[in-house]
Amino acid sequence: MAKNSAAKRIAELRQQLEEHNRRYYLLDQPLVSDAEYDALLRELQRLEARHPELSSPSSPTQRPGAPPSDKFESSVHLRPMLSLANVFDQEELEDFLERTAKALPGEEIIYVLEPKLDGVAVNLLYERGRLIRGATRGNGATGEDITANVSTIRSLPMKLSAKGKASIPGKIEIRGEVVISKADFARLNAQREEAGEPAFANPRNSAAGSLRQLDPRITAARPLDCFVHSHGWIEPMKFKSHSEFLAAAGRWGFRVHPLIRRARSAAEIVEYHEHLSRERDRLEVDIDGVVIKVDSIEQQRRLGELARSPRWATAFKFKPRQAVTRINAIVASVGRLGSLTPVAELEPVNVGGVTVSNASLHNMDEIERKDIRVGDRVVIERAGDVIPYVVGPLVDERRGNEQRFVMPDRCPSCGSPVLREQDAAAFRCSGSACPAQLLERLKHFASKSAMDIDGLGEKLISQLIDSGLVTNCADLYGLKKEDLSGLERMGEKSAANLTEAIAQSRTRSLERLIFALGIRHIGESAAAVLARAFTTLSALEQASTEQLEELDGIGPEMASSLTEFFADPANRELIAALRRAGVDPHYRVRSGGNRALEGKKLVLTGTLSISRNRAKDLIQEAGGSVVSSISSKTDYLLAGSEPGSKLKKAEAAGVRVIDEEEFWNMLEGGVPL
Ligand code: IVH
Repeated sequence: MAKNSAAKRIAELRQQLEEHNRRYYLLDQPLVSDAEYDALLRELQRLEARHPELSSPSSPTQRPGAPPSDKFESSVHLRPMLSLANVFDQEELEDFLERTAKALPGEEIIYVLEPKLDGVAVNLLYERGRLIRGATRGNGATGEDITANVSTIRSLPMKLSAKGKASIPGKIEIRGEVVISKADFARLNAQREEAGEPAFANPRNSAAGSLRQLDPRITAARPLDCFVHSHGWIEPMKFKSHSEFLAAAGRWGFRVHPLIRRARSAAEIVEYHEHLSRERDRLEVDIDGVVIKVDSIEQQRRLGELARSPRWATAFKFKPRQAVTRINAIVASVGRLGSLTPVAELEPVNVGGVTVSNASLHNMDEIERKDIRVGDRVVIERAGDVIPYVVGPLVDERRGNEQRFVMPDRCPSCGSPVLREQDAAAFRCSGSACPAQLLERLKHFASKSAMDIDGLGEKLISQLIDSGLVTNCADLYGLKKEDLSGLERMGEKSAANLTEAIAQSRTRSLERLIFALGIRHIGESAAAVLARAFTTLSALEQASTEQLEELDGIGPEMASSLTEFFADPANRELIAALRRAGVDPHYRVRSGGNRALEGKKLVLTGTLSISRNRAKDLIQEAGGSVVSSISSKTDYLLAGSEPGSKLKKAEAAGVRVIDEEEFWNMLEGGVPL
């Protein structure tokens, strides 16, 4: 490329990368995928290498991240926070290993392999074992002071524990990744959608948004977690290897990812990469690759670092689960409370092995912010097992006939007028007998965490509504086998099974029933609080707003939503009909007063489908306690996937080992119907 056009392209790439950095780091609203970002960065690196006279210290190739925003005080890192270079395939991995071996001739090199967590990097300064400051990465040299926010993260120790031989350095910068687990993310978004707030696109964005709140009370209400993966300044520095550091971090009370391994060869690294890439959907938090680090600190020192990244480490990314397709239409989908959500109908496309034909666009703000139009070619991404989402349109590929989406003014299901909610980006169908709302309400009522009616899925519910057999949840209990066996694809056996499953659901607990009613703002935990406080549905029905607000865990919005719900004659009639149908559970304390794990001591190991904190809470609620190491006094070892050395210890000590399924059974067994 001639020097002139190279200069032009370099300027263009720098400007694009600056903008992507700003969107990713400051606004938490990336427009391009990581893979596209990496491609641009590589192109710039190649051009700068070919034209050294055009390189500049302010180029994005020389500086990780974006400048700190002025919302927070700035905080200078004692040691810069570097980024990681990437390799994308086995060949590039072998190049990295060869370069490393060449720089350390004749030496044995041990590598540490870690999951690359898809979260937000933080730098935590501890002095004499106490948390002094927490900061974002910012531009690598200076970040934003978010001490108040990181202090709300329950898995971060405010004071380091000084157990065993891991003596605590006077001053240490601990670095880790703040994440939200996939399960917590799903719950958080469900709550937000219910409250008419814009949903987050993926767990990483929700963690980033939560961490950068100016009001730490908001951060505190978000399910943030933190895994430690590296360090900055340490004084005095006594560690000889990275793995020693990680072990010490674990003893000081940090979470260190359970799947960290050591390796010596390319083959072992490739095997680990393949293993994690297969397992990633089953892990608690999103990961997007593997990080490979030279273990010996002395070798790390000799390898040194480049401006942006160390020479002793690299990231081996997973293949992106992205695809490009066209938006054929955008339709308004009606929720159980009447809210209208725009959904993109896509030209079906395979994204990492799954065919995707539609994706929620969440709300009008999201459509406008990303400027998504009908007819656009768009990038679709599937992160972890999270539902696919539209990253953004390929604006350059527009042909001029793309259409902006306008929310309809009549409900697409029942034709009632659509109302725009005050000061929210939300739209709502005003119909009281809207079939689409009824379908969603029944789906929610029958769902696993509500009345758990096995076999009652969307298709069947649609048929029940269309045939006029069901107009509300209570009608389900009046269904006869003969009614059902007339329906499409419903044999006698399935009809019998379904009526049995419906009848069975009469015995569900009061908290499940309250949740199943689908009252706005009332999720599972609020339902549990209400069940405990009122013990029957009729008592709850009669509660005043003041009585409700007095309860711990019930806010003013929830209280007024409840009073509004019970003031509606149609809802009162529904509850009366449920009662007539024999659905009227009374709250009872866990099995006769003794809680399922009363007095039991549990040790946890391996990766569970829920976070350690959540597991701890559940165990404590059931009367048990969590201890850190196996002894003769331990009652159970709860072992997740990839259990650690505790499993052997437990077996040797004769401690009963239970898996997650048994654990849930134990807890469920303690909850009476
Ligand atoms: S080590 C000098 N280990 O990835 C090396 N980083 O792209 C510093 N990340 O800024 C980081 N998982 O926020 C390291 N196991 C891991 C990681 C990890 C995720 C993030 C981290 C870093 C970014 C670099």
